[in-house]
Amino acid sequence: MGALEKIFYSPVGHAVANRAGLADPPKLRRGRTWTKGAVVLAPIGSSTLAEETLALLGLQTSAPIVDVPAASPPGYGSRIGALVVDATDLSTITQLENLRAVLRPAIRALEGSGRIVIIARESGGGWESKSVARALDGINRTVGKELRRGATSNLIYVAADAAPSDLVSTLGFLLQGRSAFVDGQSWHVATAGGSVEQLDDQPLLGKVIVVTGAARGIGASIARTLARDGASIVAVDIPAAGEGLAEVANEVGGTALQLDITAPDAGTVVAEHVARRGERIYGVVHCAGITRDKMLVNTDADRWGSVLDVNLAAQIRMNEALLDPDVAGSVMDGGRIVGIASTSGLAGNKGQTNYAASKAGVAGLVEAMAPDLAARSITANAVAPGFIETAMTARIPFVQREIFRRTNSLSQGGQPEDVAETIGYLLDPASAGVNGQVVRVCGQNLVGA
Ligand SMILES: NC(=O)c1ccc[n+]([C@@H]2O[C@H](COP(=O)([O-])OP(=O)(O)OC[C@H]3O[C@@H](n4cnc5c(N)ncnc54)[C@H](O)[C@@H]3O)[C@@H](O)[C@H]2O)c1
Repeated sequence: MGALEKIFYSPVGHAVANRAGLADPPKLRRGRTWTKGAVVLAPIGSSTLAEETLALLGLQTSAPIVDVPAASPPGYGSRIGALVVDATDLSTITQLENLRAVLRPAIRALEGSGRIVIIARESGGGWESKSVARALDGINRTVGKELRRGATSNLIYVAADAAPSDLVSTLGFLLQGRSAFVDGQSWHVATAGGSVEQLDDQPLLGKVIVVTGAARGIGASIARTLARDGASIVAVDIPAAGEGLAEVANEVGGTALQLDITAPDAGTVVAEHVARRGERIYGVVHCAGITRDKMLVNTDADRWGSVLDVNLAAQIRMNEALLDPDVAGSVMDGGRIVGIASTSGLAGNKGQTNYAASKAGVAGLVEAMAPDLAARSITANAVAPGFIETAMTARIPFVQREIFRRTNSLSQGGQPEDVAETIGYLLDPASAGVNGQVVRVCGQNLVGA
C-alpha cells in the first residue's frame, strides 16, 4: 500500500473521502440471484413479448400497468426489485410520455441492485419511429446515471420477429446479479429460431471452452465461472505463468496448456490439444492481453507492435485455424467466440494509443466475423471491461486509479467475475441471437459509455 493509500484508508482519510462522496460505494448483488422485490411489468401497447419471456424465466410479475394516465404516475407502494418495460410497440414521441410515467416512480421505488430493463424493437419505419428508437437509448443512459444504490438500467433492441425464446437468456442475465457491472448499455438480439424453454443454471455442461490468459486476473475468474456453469476448461497461458496456470486448471478440473499465443501455430496447437482427447471446441475466450503504456510521442515500434500482436493479431491467427472445420478439434458448428475489448479502445485513453488500437480492433473483429460465421450458427461477440480490480489495474498510480475506479454510475471498480459472468451469458447456447455485439462491463464509465 502506498503512502496516499494509507491516508485514504486511515479513519480520518476515510471520513474525508466519505464527505467527498468517495467512500463506501453500494455493495452489488452478484451471481445467479434474483431481486428480492417484485418484478413489475409495464407494457406500453399490446405486445406480450416481455410477459411471455418473464413467464419462461418462471418469474411472478406484479399486475401489469397498462395505459398509464400521464397526469398521475403510479406509485409502486413498496420497494420493487425490477421494472421491465415492454416498449416493442412504442414508436411515437407521444408514447414516450407513457415511458416517462412508468419510469419516474420506479427510480425511487427500486431496491438496492434493482433493475430497469427496457425492451424495444430494432429501429424500423419512418423518421419518427427511428428517432424514437434512438431516443430510448438516451433515456436509458440517463436513467442509468440517475439510479442509486447499485441499481442499473439497460436497453435491449430485439428483431421484429424475435420470440420469447430468443430473449430469455438476455432478460435472465440482466435481471440476475450476473449483470452487476453492466449499466446504461444497449445491444441487439436477433431471431435465432431456437426452442429455449427456460434459463439453465448449467448451460455449458460438458462443453469444451478454451480460455487464454487464464493463469490469473480476469482469465482465471472466467475459467472458474464457466466451470461453475458446467464447462470443461482448457486453460492457456505463457510458460512463465505455468504455476498459476496449473493451479487454476486443477481448481476447475480442466487442463492446462502452456503456450505463447503469438506463436504462428498457436491455433493449431490448441486444436491438437483438444483433438488428442477426442473432443471438439465449443467456445474460445480470447482473454490474454498486455499493456505497454506511453504517450504516443514516446511510443516506439516495439511497444506498438507487441501490444497489437498479443491483443489482436494473435487472436485473428488463432481464429483462422480454430474455425477451419477441416482441423481436428476445431470449433464446432453452433460454437462461440468471445473477445475482450476495453472501454479504453471505445472511448480512447491518454497514454494507450497502442492498447486502444488493439482493443477497438477486437470490437471490429467480432463485428466482421459475425456475419461470416452465421451460416455455421457460430457467434462472435466481445465484452469491453472498464475499470476491473486486477493486477493490471493495481499498477496504475493511486490517485489516477482512484479516479478511474470511481467515475462510473456505480462509483466502484468492477470485479473480474463481473466480466466472467457477461462472457458466460454470451457463451450460453440460449444466446444464439446475440451476434457481433460488444457489451461493456464498466458500471457505465462516465467517459465513453
Ligand atoms: N483489468 C482491467 O481493468 C481491464 C480492463 C479492460 C480490459 N481488460 C482486458 O482483460 C484481459 C485480462 O486482463 P487482466 O487485468 O486479467 O490482465 P492480467 O495481466 O492480470 O492477465 C493477463 C494474462 O494474459 C497472459 N498473457 C499475456 N501475454 C500472453 C501471451 N502472449 N500468450 C499467452 N498468455 C499471455 C498473462 O500471462 C496473464 O496471465 C486483457 O485482455 C485486458 O486487456 C482488463
